[in-house]
Amino acid sequence: DPGPPDSQARSARSRRYGRGPQGSRTTRWRRFFVPKASTRFSICHGQDGGSSPPSEEDTIFLHFPRTAAVASLLRHPPPSSSSSSSSLVRHGRRGPAPRPRPAPARRGGPSAGRQLPVALNSCSFSIHIYQLNEEGPSSEHLEEETENIIAASHWVLPAVEFHGLWESLIYDVEVKSHLLHYVTTTLLFSDKNVDSNLIAWNRVVLLHGPPGTGKTSLCKALAQKLTIRLSERYRYGQLIEINSHSLFSKWFSESGKLVTKMFQKIQELIDDKNALVFVLIDEVESLTAARNACRAGTEPSDAIRVVNAVLTQIDQIKRHSNVVILTTSNITEKIDMAFVDRADIKQYIGPPSPEAIYKIYLSCLDELMKCQIIYPREQLLTLRELDMLGYIENNVSKMSILLSEISRKSEGLSGRVLRKLPFLAHALYIQTPTVTVEVFLQALSLVVEKQFEERRRLAACVCDSGYWFGS
Ligand SMILES: Nc1ncnc2c1ncn2[C@@H]1O[C@H](COP(=O)(O)OP(=O)(O)O)[C@@H](O)[C@H]1O
Ligand SMILES: [Mg+2]
Repeated sequence: DPGPPDSQARSARSRRYGRGPQGSRTTRWRRFFVPKASTRFSICHGQDGGSSPPSEEDTIFLHFPRTAAVASLLRHPPPSSSSSSSSLVRHGRRGPAPRPRPAPARRGGPSAGRQLPVALNSCSFSIHIYQLNEEGPSSEHLEEETENIIAASHWVLPAVEFHGLWESLIYDVEVKSHLLHYVTTTLLFSDKNVDSNLIAWNRVVLLHGPPGTGKTSLCKALAQKLTIRLSERYRYGQLIEINSHSLFSKWFSESGKLVTKMFQKIQELIDDKNALVFVLIDEVESLTAARNACRAGTEPSDAIRVVNAVLTQIDQIKRHSNVVILTTSNITEKIDMAFVDRADIKQYIGPPSPEAIYKIYLSCLDELMKCQIIYPREQLLTLRELDMLGYIENNVSKMSILLSEISRKSEGLSGRVLRKLPFLAHALYIQTPTVTVEVFLQALSLVVEKQFEERRRLAACVCDSGYWFGS
């Protein structure tokens, strides 16, 4: 029994559109609802309402009141050792009646990195109920004599801006769960005061790879996710995104004192031991550029003091157990060794494979169907389902096969570009308030071809003008 009606309404509200004081409310929730073995709820996960089986790092949404689908989940026999995932039941807001899921295809190649589903009836749940902070970011200003520089943006987590971000990022390998586990272990070791002379670890994460692969977003999503997961230990999270471009740009040649001032503010946040503090330094290569320019004598020597001040400050704050430093870099080979050495967790983030692209497109189409721009709604199959059907074309699989062809054609485009394509497809080739899936997919296919055509033209242009940089 999910408890008195008032609490049901409150929990549903906070799950979707949480309001009120910031921070996670796991303990408060316990006061009015203790889940029991007989508790029934329906489950779906991710942005797409559960079009693929949940994996360990997915967000699982619980829906009250009880449904037939849930009863089936609870009554299901325990998994046999031969098919651990066969007892997994899939159901969502609008999904078909529950049915057992076949074991996932285990293959080599890019799909080998697919997340393994978790059998829901053989795992334990941690339920975190949280309220989203809707206040938006605040800016930290540093005043120079002539200009007012926005040195950092600051969010109190969990923030409404980052809601759903974690689920929207799709990777082939288990990047997300690895990161989550790394940082969780780091925080546990820090919290338990494990002697770092005996077991070495630190709290600096570096995500590197080509632009548009979701590195910055992943840092923010990770901060949000950890804030929610560790809600019993930390009441809320603080995310400070340092604007490294303004900090290291050539016109900011003020001495390192201003940096020290900014880090003093961060220190005040760290002093609150109820807060988990994330410091995000995006595109750390701008720091390298400042340092190299200094060496070449084209920058005032003050710039190097800024760089050194930042590095010293990072070393200072990373000593605190409630701090995680997240850094990103678009350039792998040129990244400053000072940063590489400081990071324990270095993770390459690459462009999506056709499998990941398919999932990204699927989530875009689902959104357009929810908004009734694509109408009528059509259920598209997952790649696993297409695999099981052997890619045989029929009325059910036709659109999904077309989408899988478009995904293959889109290989090489970044996640950032892919998420723009549905918009461009509509703007360039559709322009009507509603459109069928079929027409939409034709437009999407055209817009993908256009992207590659534009790339070729741009490359030719750059070549002609003697600035070829791709060789
Ligand atoms: N792997 C991915 N899956 C889904 N969306 C992605 C992916 N990579 C990038 N995106 C989209 O691109 C946007 C911009 O990514 P961003 O974090 O700025 O990339 P980066 O910091 O690597 O340049 C993200 O908000 C997201 O919508
Ligand atoms: Mg970025």
